[in-house]
Order: sequence, then structure tokens, then C-alpha cells
Amino acid sequence: MKLTFATLLLALVVAPALAADKSDPKIGKTLHDKSCVGCHVSKFGGDGSKMYTRPDHKVQTLDQLAARVRACNNNVGAHWFPEEEAHVAAYLNATFYQIK
Ligand code: HEC
Repeated sequence: MKLTFATLLLALVVAPALAADKSDPKIGKTLHDKSCVGCHVSKFGGDGSKMYTRPDHKVQTLDQLAARVRACNNNVGAHWFPEEEAHVAAYLNATFYQIK
């Protein structure tokens, strides 16, 4: 019984951490550049990265970043899987937001 509970707890705690570790910013960049850049460029010019670096940008936490990527994925109809959303969030965080 004790072991079962411990195993369950371990699965709950470790599984999301492992999933997060698997997210790959390089894959995220490819997905992002294909589906997301055009519209941000049309708003801000340049390479569109001002969307993330403008002084009043919206995303301040990793949760907000994940939510924003999910919302934009749904809006755009990119049909990404949750793992793909995680790759893109990892790319955006590594490149622009650097939220710990
Ligand atoms: C049709 C246009 C359009 C497309 C395509 C688009 N976005 Fe956006 N995105 C916006 C607009 C407009 C905002 C700013 C919203 C605001 O300021 O509240 C935004 C904001 C964001 C932000 C928040 C920036 C901040 O303020 O910190 C993120 C992150 C983001 N988009 C990610 C994505 C991702 C990932 C994709 C690809 C799935 C994508 N966007 C595709 C229009 C678009």
C-alpha cells in the first residue's frame, strides 16, 4: 500500500518534470517560424520578435506563456499537440522571455 502510494506520488511529481525536460527549443523554433511569425511581423515589422520584447508585453510567467502559446495555436489552427506547444514555449522562453 505504502509502495503504491509512493509510486503514484512519484509518477505525479516526476512525469510532468520529465515531459518539461523533453521540450526542445530547436523544434519549437521551426514550428514557431512556420506558423507564428508572419502575423507578428505584420504588426511590428522586423522579425516580429518585438511582440515578445516590447516594453508592455503581456507574458510574465511560464503559465502565461503556456496559455498564450495554446491560445495562439488554437486561433491560428496550427493543430499542435501539447508536446509541440511545449517546444514552442521552450523556444520563446529560451530566446526572449528567460523566465526562471
Ligand atoms: C493572426 C495573427 C497572429 C498569429 C498568426 C499569431 N499571433 Fe501571437 N499574437 C498576436 C497578437 C495580436 C498578439 C498581442 C496580443 C496582445 O497584445 O494582447 C499576440 C501575442 C502573442 C504572445 C504574447 C506576447 C507578449 O505580449 O508577451 C505570444 C507568446 C504569442 N503571440 C505567441 C504566438 C504563437 C506561438 C503563435 C503561433 C501558433 C502566434 N502567436 C501566432 C497575433 C498573432
